[in-house]
Amino acid sequence: MSSLWDDPIAQTVEPVEEIQAENKPSVKNEDSNQSETGLTGFEDIETGAERIQVDDKKIINCRADLNQLVPFKYDWAWSKYLSACNNHWMPQEVNMTADIALWKSNDGLTDDERMVIERNLGFFSTADSLVANNLVLAVYKHITNPECRQYLLRQAFEEAIHTHAYQYCIESLGMDESRLFNMYREIPSVATKAQWALPYTQSLGDINFKTGTPENDQRLLRDLIAFYVVFEGIFFYVGFTQILSMGRRNKMTGVAEQFQYILRDESMHMNFGIDVINQIKYENPHLWTDDFKKDMTKLVLEGVELETKYAYDTMPRGILGLNAPMFEQYLQYIANRRLTQIGLPEEFKNVQNPFPWMSEVLDLKKEKNFFETRVTEYQTGGALNW
Ligand SMILES: [Fe+2]
Ligand SMILES: [Fe+2]
Repeated sequence: MSSLWDDPIAQTVEPVEEIQAENKPSVKNEDSNQSETGLTGFEDIETGAERIQVDDKKIINCRADLNQLVPFKYDWAWSKYLSACNNHWMPQEVNMTADIALWKSNDGLTDDERMVIERNLGFFSTADSLVANNLVLAVYKHITNPECRQYLLRQAFEEAIHTHAYQYCIESLGMDESRLFNMYREIPSVATKAQWALPYTQSLGDINFKTGTPENDQRLLRDLIAFYVVFEGIFFYVGFTQILSMGRRNKMTGVAEQFQYILRDESMHMNFGIDVINQIKYENPHLWTDDFKKDMTKLVLEGVELETKYAYDTMPRGILGLNAPMFEQYLQYIANRRLTQIGLPEEFKNVQNPFPWMSEVLDLKKEKNFFETRVTEYQTGGALNW
């Protein structure tokens, strides 16, 4: 069998020493006064460098080559990448026929139910773009580990699928697209969540921003907590619960099924983010100061406040056996979980989960025909018809 080195074209590659000499004035030299800064991917290729050892790898501020996936250090990141690929789905595969008939009927839905559906499609149709922007424009550059970057790339694609799914629901139901896609600028309870999150993307997206100092590393950690713990871990949960409740009552089952797939993806995004946050803390314990912990608790509590307002705004009166005070309690329960997941103490005493069925939805491997529409244990390959 021939190898790359039998190929005469491959053998015309310039000797390593010559390439090294040409590349000498590199980005790394410009960074030499900030030796703690990690590689980002903009640097020249360092030919002839030592081979990577697993211990060279670090989640932030790593100087080892970013372009070699192996040897793996963070198996949790790679296994989440593989699981995410196994969960692949596309919005067009979900049958929306019953939803279209129900939405167009005069008596199938109350005005309050219609508002819940519209507000959520309005919020989510732009929310996932904000998350994608945060990943691509802000976070990716500063996570200096290839297996984590592999997951981030998968996550970015999933955010595109989610935006597609919301657009697909809006289009299928014949809703006013302009009104829904503009809710994040026009409806206060939707707009405030988007406005709350954006500064964290802007902060890291600053072209002059570099990690490598305790202050800047905390800035990165804060962005990760803002997006993975608050935005994806709190701001999504009123909407998910409302729409999945409808599905459980056999209303808008197609939209609910889309949301169910999205919830499965989102819960993995959040768990990945929490693993990244905890790994950064583990490798950089000096960042996790008492002041910083207080600030992060405050961040989570701000998220609870905004999401509680969203619950009252979308649900001024109860529907389907749900009401806003139940969501207030649920958000406190979720906030306690999120805080403990990143190693902070609970903030709310004696709070029970008013929606225990939501935890079952999250464990989709056991769930089949949840909305009696189709088997939801989705693995790519057999079920797809290209
Ligand atoms: Fe998403
Ligand atoms: Fe996400």
